[in-house]
Amino acid sequence: MAGIVVVGSQWGDEGKGKVTDYLSSKVDVVVRYQGGNNAGHSIEFDGRKFALKLIPSGVFSGHQVVMANGMVINPKALLEEIKYLNDAGVKTNQLFISDRAHVILPYHLEIDALQEKRRQQNQIGTTKKGIGPAYVDKYARIGIRMAEFVDEELFHKRLIEVLDLKKREYPELDFEAETIFAEYKEYAKRIKPMVCDTAILLDEAFRCGKNVLFEGAQGAMLDIDYGTYPFVTSSHPGATGVSEGCGIGPLNVTHAVGIIKAYTTRVGAGPFPTEIDDEIATKIREVGHEYGTVTKRPRRIGWFDAVVVNQSRRMSSLTGLAVMLLDVLSGLDTLKICVAYQLDGKRVYGLPATIKDIERCEPVYEELPGWQEDITHVSSFEELPFNAQNYLKRISELVNCPIYLFSVGPSRDQTIIMKDIIKD
Ligand code: IMP
Repeated sequence: MAGIVVVGSQWGDEGKGKVTDYLSSKVDVVVRYQGGNNAGHSIEFDGRKFALKLIPSGVFSGHQVVMANGMVINPKALLEEIKYLNDAGVKTNQLFISDRAHVILPYHLEIDALQEKRRQQNQIGTTKKGIGPAYVDKYARIGIRMAEFVDEELFHKRLIEVLDLKKREYPELDFEAETIFAEYKEYAKRIKPMVCDTAILLDEAFRCGKNVLFEGAQGAMLDIDYGTYPFVTSSHPGATGVSEGCGIGPLNVTHAVGIIKAYTTRVGAGPFPTEIDDEIATKIREVGHEYGTVTKRPRRIGWFDAVVVNQSRRMSSLTGLAVMLLDVLSGLDTLKICVAYQLDGKRVYGLPATIKDIERCEPVYEELPGWQEDITHVSSFEELPFNAQNYLKRISELVNCPIYLFSVGPSRDQTIIMKDIIKD
């Protein structure tokens, strides 16, 4: 029995979808445990390209796929994604949705936009999918959960109550409960057969010796507690999110894979100590297709930051790394790695807790020679140019973590395994 969690270990968009897809062949169940359709996982195989926002990537392997209680789920977006998959010939009859997951309704999206407007120059740059407002309702204990949503009478009653509260808080909201109800009760009917207590399903899977993959969304630096608060998302993207987000104990997680890019990116606002905005950034953005899957925004680019990834290792007890997009760095003369920050004359090795202090941090860089060769066809670590091997070794040393695999392109055969995560 293995419980493997795939953790975005920077600011999200590290290429988790590809690693999840690779691991899918070794597991029986794939689970999403936090976030919602703010995530965007791209998967490419057999010349086909898919982008998923909600449904776990394991759906392509025909496994049981679970959307667990820690998620916030937009029913309309979910049904659209099911249709998108079914139209492409991908079956979704093994999809299970937690009866405790919270439902995103149209007013959450509107509140997300209103909150951003009210923040004026301090906008977070959210995906405007209603994620934060849905989690606010969860913790304010007024959210509508899947079990209530699929009970028509209960949904009607709760919707009237909640919308009334929300309209008092946000007088700009122009929604009628009956209109939302008429549309969403139809979605609820279609979703109902998939709703169950997924914690029991997962416990049974573990007790039968099955392997379970937990697919994190976003990244460690967007964690609500240990990310660059308040420029974060409203959940726990790391291994800590698995237990609370699935209704199982933490000891079920036996492996934690930290997914990192060979450099760093960030979308949305917030501090980014190793950010660069020059011709190297433009080259990396174009070669790496660094544009958001959900919002299409150009991603901000920076050098590899070992402080960030070390923080992720600490938060998730990472057992190994998957280094993605290594090929994008080919052709650069020199590569920089941030090994620490300089703050008030001292070296610091963790992100400070205030934005003010993070913004005052000066990255301490180590420079490594780059490589000029195209590495998209290599099939082993040994085939990499010496400087690329060195770059990977240095990342592993600085983060205190072995490398499980690295990736040199979007296809399945461009994933190079250095150490098995679990044996076949
Ligand atoms: P929210 O999750 O929509 O509330 O957005 C909060 C912050 O997290 C914003 O800076 C978003 O750009 C960022 N964010 C949310 N989801 C993702 C993701 O999947 N990848 C990268 N950034 C994300």
